[in-house]
Amino acid sequence: MNVLEMAGVTRDHGTGAALVRALRGVDLTVAEGEFVAVMGPSGSGKSTLLRLAGGLDRPTEGTVRVAGTDLAALDGRRLAAVRRRDAGYVFQDLNLIATLTAAENVMLPLELDGVRTRRARAEALAVLERVGLADVAGRFPDDLSGGQRQRVAIARALVGERRLVLADEPTGALDSVTGDDVLRLLRARCADGAACLMVTHDARHAAWADRVIFLYDGRIDASAAAPLPEAAR
Ligand SMILES: Nc1ncnc2c1ncn2[C@@H]1O[C@H](COP(=O)(O)OP(=O)(O)OP(=O)(O)O)[C@@H](O)[C@H]1O
Ligand SMILES: [Mg+2]
Repeated sequence: MNVLEMAGVTRDHGTGAALVRALRGVDLTVAEGEFVAVMGPSGSGKSTLLRLAGGLDRPTEGTVRVAGTDLAALDGRRLAAVRRRDAGYVFQDLNLIATLTAAENVMLPLELDGVRTRRARAEALAVLERVGLADVAGRFPDDLSGGQRQRVAIARALVGERRLVLADEPTGALDSVTGDDVLRLLRARCADGAACLMVTHDARHAAWADRVIFLYDGRIDASAAAPLPEAAR
C-alpha cells in the first residue's frame, strides 16, 4: 500500500515579480516499508516537499494523499490529527520546545493525541534509550549538545506508531558513527512497515535508502532516479 502519494504537486511562494516556484509538478509515491532519500542542491525544494508530505503546508496545485486520504479534503482539526497520528517529522531546524525536557519533547505528540502521561513517558523513555539518550532524558534542550538535540528530534518522530516518517537532514549535526545509528533506526522503522522520506546531502547516507530521488529547481530528475543496488547498503 502507498502511504504517501503526491501527484502533480506545485508550490508557489509569493506573487508577481517575487514569485518563487518551490516545486513544479512533482509526482512521488512512497510505499509501506519503503525508505526514500531526497537529494538536490540548496533551494531545490527538498524541505518544501517534506512539509507538503506531512500536511504542514498545502500545495498550490496537485494532490497529496497520506494513507489514501486527500489532505485537501480535511478541515484544520482533521489535518492536525493526521499530522500528529500518521506523520513523524524531523525538522531541519529541529523545533524542540526549550521549556520541555528531552523526555517531555518526545512525549508531546503522544499526549496531544490523548495517550495518558504515564504511558507516554514510558514510550518516550524507550525511544530515547534506542537513540542512546536514556541518561539525559531529564535535561532541557539548551543543556544538550547539537548531536544530542538532533537525536531528541529523531526520537520525537519515531515515538508511537506513525506510518510516515519525514526527516529533513536528520544526520546533519551528527558524527558518522551516530549518523549511522540514526539511519539504522530509520531502516528498522521501515522494516516495521513505515514509509520513510529523508532529505540528505550525504551520498553515503542516501545509500541506506531503497531509492534516491534528485530534485533540481523544484522538479524530480527522472533520469537520475534509479534504484540503488542491494550492495550499496
Ligand atoms: N515561505 C517561503 N516564502 C518564500 N519562498 C520560500 C519559502 N519557503 C521556501 N521558499 C523558497 O522555495 C525554494 C525551495 O526552498 P526549500 O527550503 O524547499 O529548499 P531546500 O532544497 O530544502 O534547500 P536547503 O538544502 O538549503 O535546505 C527556495 O528558493 C526558497 O527560497
Ligand atoms: Mg531544506
